[in-house]
Parts: sequence; C-alpha cells; structure tokens
Amino acid sequence: MADIIDGKAFAANLRIAIALQVADIRVIYGVTPGLAVVLVGDDPASQVYTRNKTRQARETGMASFEHRLPANASRQQLLELINRLNKDAQVNGILVQLPLPKQIDVEAVIDAIHPAKDVDGFKPVNMGHLLIGGEGMVPCTPQGCLMLLKSRFGDLSGQHALVIGRSNIVGKPMAALLLRENCTVTVAHSHTRDLPEECARADILIAAVGQPRFIQGEWIKPGATVIDVGINRIDAGDGKTRLVGDVDFEAAVKVAGAITPVPGGVGPMTIVCLLLNTLTAACQQHSIPAPSLGGAFPKAP
Ligand code: GUN
Repeated sequence: MADIIDGKAFAANLRIAIALQVADIRVIYGVTPGLAVVLVGDDPASQVYTRNKTRQARETGMASFEHRLPANASRQQLLELINRLNKDAQVNGILVQLPLPKQIDVEAVIDAIHPAKDVDGFKPVNMGHLLIGGEGMVPCTPQGCLMLLKSRFGDLSGQHALVIGRSNIVGKPMAALLLRENCTVTVAHSHTRDLPEECARADILIAAVGQPRFIQGEWIKPGATVIDVGINRIDAGDGKTRLVGDVDFEAAVKVAGAITPVPGGVGPMTIVCLLLNTLTAACQQHSIPAPSLGGAFPKAP
C-alpha cells in the first residue's frame, strides 16, 4: 500500500511557521501583511474556497479583506475595485477567485492587478519569471505540489514527471517548476494519444484534469508518487455528495509508492502557499528581508 502524503498536516506546520514570521515583522517593522480576496457571484465551491482563504489569513495574523460582487457585476466594476486595491497600502496581495462569470474576461482582470500584488502568480510577467528562472510569484497549487514532492524526495533531478492537464493555473506552471527541478517532464492533455502508456513511464504523476477518478490505478507505474490536484464533488449515492480527486484513489493506493488523498492533500497546500506569497509580497513591498521558515520546509521555489 502507498504512503499517504498528508498535505493537511504539512500545511498546518507551514502555517505555524508563517504565523511566527508575521508576528516577527509586525514587532520589528510595524508591518501587517494584508490579503484582499475578491469573489464575483455565488458559486458554492468558490464561496467555500474564498472563506477559507480569508479565515486562514486572519488566523496567521494577517489583515484580510473580503470583497463580494454580484454575479451580474460588470467588468468595469471589478476593474475599479482592483484599481482601489492596487492603491491601498494595507493590501499586499490581491486574489480574484476564478472562474469568473462569463461577461468578465479573465485576461483583463489579471492584467489589472499590480504585478507586486499578484499573489496568484498568474500575470504574464510572473509566468515569464517562472519559465526563465527569475524571482517572481509562483502559482499556489503547483508551488504546494512541489513542496510535497520535495519533502518526500529532496532532490527531484532525473525523475520522469508526467503532468496531466495544461491549464494556466496548474498544468503549465507545474511543468515549468518540475523542469526547474531537473525533472524530465511530459505534459499530457485531451489530445494525448496513449495516456496509459505515458503514465506507465512516470515516477511522478500530477493529475490536474478536473474529471472525477479519471486516472485508473492500473495505469500507474508501481511505486510512483501520485499528486492528485482534482477536487470533484460527486453523488455519493445516499442522497449526499462527497469529494473525490482526479485519480481513482482506492485502486491507485494499491500500486503507487505514495499518494495525496482528496480531501486533505493538495487543497490545504494551495491556501498555505497563498499565505506564503502574501507574506513574501508584504516583505518585498516594505523592503524587508525575505521570510525564513526554518529548515523544516523545502525552500519555496
Ligand atoms: N480557482 C481555482 N484555483 C484558483 C487559484 O489558485 N486562484 C484563483 N484566483 N482562483 C482559483
């Protein structure tokens, strides 16, 4: 049976280290990092995610500001809000929860966020740094996945990594990060000819397809490390729903060497990496030395 990679416990420890840093910079420099979270509309999953993000920011001693706009909000309304947040010195990081209602184009919104406050790492300039090797904000979910991998492997050099999914939020930045760690990286997507064959070669498999239990246990290379990014709500059959990942966990756990569960794997890491990016952004904006989290955690990318 595979080891279960406990993202929830890892994230809880990292949150403590972040809270200590937040307390330190408040005492030493009089700075309180601030995160603004913007939700447009009333998608139930997005409401849960944004509530968790603002709550955890507050719990680590940061200032957190929640802004909600109605589902029929105009692009102009959202851009005006972002403009105000860009100018607000109490706000060091801005997160606009995706997906957005269809009348608002996501590129214009990401474009409006000040690069220094782009704690999602979604702006082309930050994506560019990620590819070229500069020091930009790194998107939270891939950053969290990488931390879990490094905590298991240490050095990832030479590992065959397969990223399934090519979204701007997860797949593409994940592939760039793994390449930076000297992995041999394959990116699979809906046009990939033989996905089971690709999986059979992968020492590290990152599943980010957004389809419940899509990755079959028998596809997985025995002993591989499986990181499941999916969060899918399915009918549990008893009138209730439950969360499952993109990997058929029950089958995969018998083949893999290690695997993240859903829930309790990647999800908590995404939020804690957002807190880390907000702390880093606050330090950069106030010319404070970069946060040091102690030796217990792999260095943030
Ligand atoms: N929706 C799903 N994941 C994310 C994320 O990491 N950031 C934002 N802004 N929206 C998301």
